[in-house]
This record gives sequence, C-alpha cells and structure tokens, in this order.
Amino acid sequence: MSPSFKHKHILGIEDLSSKDITLILDTAKRFKDLFGPPPIRKVPALRNMMVMTAFFEPSTRTKLSFDSAAKRLNADTMAFSASTSSLVKGETLIDTCKNLEAMQPSVIVIRHKSSGAPRFVAENTDVSVLNAGDGWHEHPSQALLDMYTMRENKRSLEGLKVALLGDITHSRVAHSNIFGLTKMGAEVHVSGPSTMIPRDIERLGVVVHKRIQDAVADADVVMLLRIQLERMPKTLFPSNREYFRFFGVTPEIMKLAAKDHILMHPGPINRGVELAYELADGEKSVILDQVTNGIAVRMAMLYLVLGGTIEEEAIT
Ligand code: CP
Repeated sequence: MSPSFKHKHILGIEDLSSKDITLILDTAKRFKDLFGPPPIRKVPALRNMMVMTAFFEPSTRTKLSFDSAAKRLNADTMAFSASTSSLVKGETLIDTCKNLEAMQPSVIVIRHKSSGAPRFVAENTDVSVLNAGDGWHEHPSQALLDMYTMRENKRSLEGLKVALLGDITHSRVAHSNIFGLTKMGAEVHVSGPSTMIPRDIERLGVVVHKRIQDAVADADVVMLLRIQLERMPKTLFPSNREYFRFFGVTPEIMKLAAKDHILMHPGPINRGVELAYELADGEKSVILDQVTNGIAVRMAMLYLVLGGTIEEEAIT
C-alpha cells in the first residue's frame, strides 16, 4: 500500500515526521521527472481545484513557484495582493481570510510578516493552508526544496554535513532547515555573528561554531543566509563591508569544504555581503537549481494536501 499524507495543512517542518518529508520529496521527484526531456508541461492532477495565493509580504521565487506549480497541475489560480486590497482600509487578517475562503479555494498559500499568521488562519477557517513563510518562524516549502536539492546532488540526507551560515536568528529558512535536516539524519553546523545566533540553538541538535571556517570544514553542503535587515529592530553589525570581512564567504573559505560540496542560498542573494560576487555563479553553486526544484516540491505539497497519492495515474 502506498504511504498517504495525513496533513490538511503544511504550517511548518516541525509538524512533519521524517516519513512525511520523504513522501513529499519522493512525490516531488515524480513531478520533476515531468520537466523532461521531453517536457510535459501539465498533468490533470488538480483539475477542478483552485489554488489561492495570499502574499502579505513581497516575494519573487515562492509566489511565482506556487503559481507555476498550481498551473502545471491544472488547478485554477487566484492571487490576492495585499497592497491593492482592502487591508489598506483597515480590514483585519482574519476578516480578509474569511472573505478569501468564501470564494471557495481548495487551498490558500499564505506569506505574512507575523510568525503564526498561517496557523491562525488554519485554525479559524476550514480551508487547507500552506505556509509560504511567516516572520522569523518557518518557511517549510523552502526547506523542502533545499532538502530535495541536497538529495538530488548527494542521494541521501543521512550523515550529510550541512553548514548554515549567517543570520540564523531572523531566518525562517534556517529554522525550517534545522527541523528538517536533523529529522532526516543530517549533521547541522551553524555559524554567524554572535548577535544573530539564538542563545539556546544547540537544543535543536545543531553544532555552533564561532568561526565560519570551522563550520565549513569538510561540509558537503554550505548554505548561506541573507542578512534580514527588514526583520532586525536595529542594525546588528556596523556595515556591509564589515560583515563581509568577518562573515562573508570567499573562494578561500570554500576550499575548506568537502571537494564535492554544493553551495546553496535561498535567495534573494546579497553579492559582496554574505558571499563573494563570483561564488553565486561558480561551478559548485546550485542556487538556480533550487529555484527549479521549488516548482516540483510545491507541486507535491499542493497535490498531497489535496488528497493525492504518489501512485496515482494523474501524476503521469
Ligand atoms: N527564498 C524566498 O523565499 O524567496 P522570495 O522571498 O523571493 O519568495
């Protein structure tokens, strides 16, 4: 019997088991195979379904990727845009979402600057909710596409040494990856400015290093994180130049990683701040593969929360 996905919502990786994560990644592989060659642009898996995106915060990759995923599954799509909505007239989040629900979407994909906003909507409506990034809390679809990309390059997550570098405190991507990678048996090492590393982060099963060189040493995967200026109450370092000098990743530092390492970044990247200009386009970089894989992973997320199973003919 094929494994089934029991969750109506995906609000965080913390809520998922290693079996859930494996099922999502295996289903995403089925969808990625459709990308070709030869490319199959659409499958009927979500015909008669409607996917609504509600982004209360800017996005390039996640929003377009969920939209593309829904279209490739033959779902109808509807996009809510916060800046041109009645939010500007003072409508609350929950009233807005109840009105979105009344338009009968099958699932709402929500990004919001407040941690917990997608869970609040899930608990106060009857519709399926996917978290597309909430405050500092979690960004589950990003971590799933990151784990997919690691697995694609390294076959298994078990025993991988993964270095997460930069602003861990304000990074929902870091939090979701830590939950996911530790559940999947990877060894997670973190490093960054001490003002951007949560004090009790070791309790999540990660190893903390003062020097980024020690985190990068022999790493199979080096993942850089953006400095989240918009989420900081005040600037936690003197200047971008200073940050690069002490915490920026250079080709010299990357020589310490395992020979066949991959370099990852969720985007958007700050060249010359968290990484040297040339690294983003270097031969070890899989940054744009992450973006392509994001479509397949989000197809799997939409498909599974709406009741699909990995063996269904609608996938092919
Ligand atoms: N990685 C990521 O979440 O990018 P966007 O903010 O562009 O969606």
